Amino acid sequence: MNTNSIKERIEQLRNQLNDHNYRYYVLSQPIISDFEYDKLMEQLIQLEKSNPEFYDNNSPSQRVGNDINVEFKQIEHKYPMLSLGNTYSKEELAEFDNRIKKLITESFEYVCELKYDGTSISLTYENGILKQAVTRGDGAVGDDVTLNVKTIKSIPLKLKGNDYSENFIIRGEIFISHKGFEKMNAERINNDEIPFANPRNAASGTLKIQNSSIVAKRPLDCFLYYLLGEKLIFDEHFENLNKAKEWGFKISEYIKKCNSINEVYEFIDYWDTERKNLLFDIDGIVVKVNSLRQQKLLGFTTKSPRWAISYKFKAEQTETKLISIDYQVGRTGAITPVANLEPVQLAGTIVKRASLHNANQISMLDIRIGDYVFVEKGGEIIPKIVGVNTKKRNINSEPVKFIEHCPECGTILIKKESEAAHYCPDESNCPPQIKGKIEHFISRKAMNIDGLGEETIALLFKNELIKNIADLYCLKTEQLNPLERLGEKSANNIIDSIKKSINVPFPRVLYALGIRYVGETVAKKLANYFNSIEKLSNANFEELIEVDEIGDRIAESIILFFKDENNKLIINRLKQEEIQFEIKEGDKIKKSNKLEGLSIVISGTFKKYSRDELKALIEQNGGKNVSSVSSKTSYLLAGENIGPSKLSKAKKLNVKIISEDDFFIMIK
Ligand code: IVH
Repeated sequence: MNTNSIKERIEQLRNQLNDHNYRYYVLSQPIISDFEYDKLMEQLIQLEKSNPEFYDNNSPSQRVGNDINVEFKQIEHKYPMLSLGNTYSKEELAEFDNRIKKLITESFEYVCELKYDGTSISLTYENGILKQAVTRGDGAVGDDVTLNVKTIKSIPLKLKGNDYSENFIIRGEIFISHKGFEKMNAERINNDEIPFANPRNAASGTLKIQNSSIVAKRPLDCFLYYLLGEKLIFDEHFENLNKAKEWGFKISEYIKKCNSINEVYEFIDYWDTERKNLLFDIDGIVVKVNSLRQQKLLGFTTKSPRWAISYKFKAEQTETKLISIDYQVGRTGAITPVANLEPVQLAGTIVKRASLHNANQISMLDIRIGDYVFVEKGGEIIPKIVGVNTKKRNINSEPVKFIEHCPECGTILIKKESEAAHYCPDESNCPPQIKGKIEHFISRKAMNIDGLGEETIALLFKNELIKNIADLYCLKTEQLNPLERLGEKSANNIIDSIKKSINVPFPRVLYALGIRYVGETVAKKLANYFNSIEKLSNANFEELIEVDEIGDRIAESIILFFKDENNKLIINRLKQEEIQFEIKEGDKIKKSNKLEGLSIVISGTFKKYSRDELKALIEQNGGKNVSSVSSKTSYLLAGENIGPSKLSKAKKLNVKIISEDDFFIMIK
């Protein structure tokens, strides 16, 4: 292909992929399979890689994010991001309606919208291209989260059509659907990470992650609800939103024009019940005056517009009796108290259990067995107990005494000052901890051992065939055959799959060991830094926290893990089975030692290479890429729009600042 046809093909692929993204993420009507989509994306990535002169940071291939940690730049909002006044009753809404009628004597329309429960975002488009995405911050200044937002597939990087104004801002709410939230939390639990309390926290937490490749894996979505600019096409908010829909933005279909406050009430009543059937959370309704001219007349108070208001739904609450408290033991030994409730109908489902989180929560609520408690389903999927109806309390009741022994193995529980949870410390003998560790070890992202699931592990454990992860490698088909439910074929499958797992590369093995706080990403970082379990297990605290993203908590947990005699024994046994405990030659392509001993910070955007590629080049030449400038930093590799804080810190600490060209001379 000549240069022109390569360029054309790249453009064509980008347009096709943008269109498929729109059909999938905005319209929910894909016309090709995921497989076909991946193939097109692969083609584009390949072509862009071999033809870097056609790099475009708005290409759909850039939605995967990059691995660089960024400190967000602070951006001043061109138009402040105000909040909305809240109302909780129809009376308060009637007052809002009266205030408007006093200020506008002509007729007017309202637009009713859902109040999406996520985190707000302000997007700037120039000539149809997404230029910047900024969080609300304090309303005047927010964080530049453009890289993260570009990974959200329902947000167009390039608009359709040609009738948009040259320069405009569109605001909306980034959120996570119920399904996405459940999937994401299941993964977090599996990775030994603390699950998010609700989709809203998950969305706002994710948006602030300083590594867009992690953000790209989270199911963020975005509804847009507000256009701002000097030259908007229509004078009506409603029409402008419809226009924005044509340009490719995700605009909710549940928007209604209303001619009176009574119609607004109807919309509210409808959604107060119907919201249970939505696939995402809303916490109310927003009512806006439709005409922009009238909006201007009404203006703003210091905090919020006079032309709009929100109506907040009451969090659904009910009262029921606390029958008993169960204590569950997790894979890490953490004890979670769970309330058993008299079954009660709440927000469309029957609630029988609610999490009580930990001992602090129980004493804070002074909750007692037999109490009538208030159960609420707010943004949270799992209902929570928010209080006690003390009027109905039995005078003989006594405060709950948190258990002192593990309900599963009887060991005395421990509690660290700095943590809220109680733990069973007997990792090696406590059944749910043993089974949990094995389940984690065999899971897909870890050793990926097929044929073994929760039930089979329980069966093998019950029959005393396995007591730890190393025992898996001693299993024989003859031992499995006689077990109930396990035929010869599945027994063979299991044994084969265990055998195959000795080829799983070291980073995944490290993750599989289930060291507390060492999830997939941390395991990769550690494996690539130390290269072998030998070196990692001998590293001291200072050496561990040298590694990018490894803090005190993780370092302490690693040290504790390798100190444990039982863990040492298991690792030795696994070594004998020839499990991969080293990064293999070839896993890391080392080109030279030219950057040996140098630590380099990358900041800004670059002409020839992406930051990911620069990072790889640093590592391939023996250097270390670090995220923040310190006195130990050798060089600051500076691109365009370099973060001002990094630059001034480097100058202050006399860290050498080099350009992309200088860097290439160094590694040439
Ligand atoms: S309009 C001038 N419309 O609610 C304010 N806001 O307190 C214009 N929100 O932080 C906001 N859904 O993030 C508007 N349909 C909707 C909304 C909405 C959710 C959030 C928004 C803002 C908060 C207002």
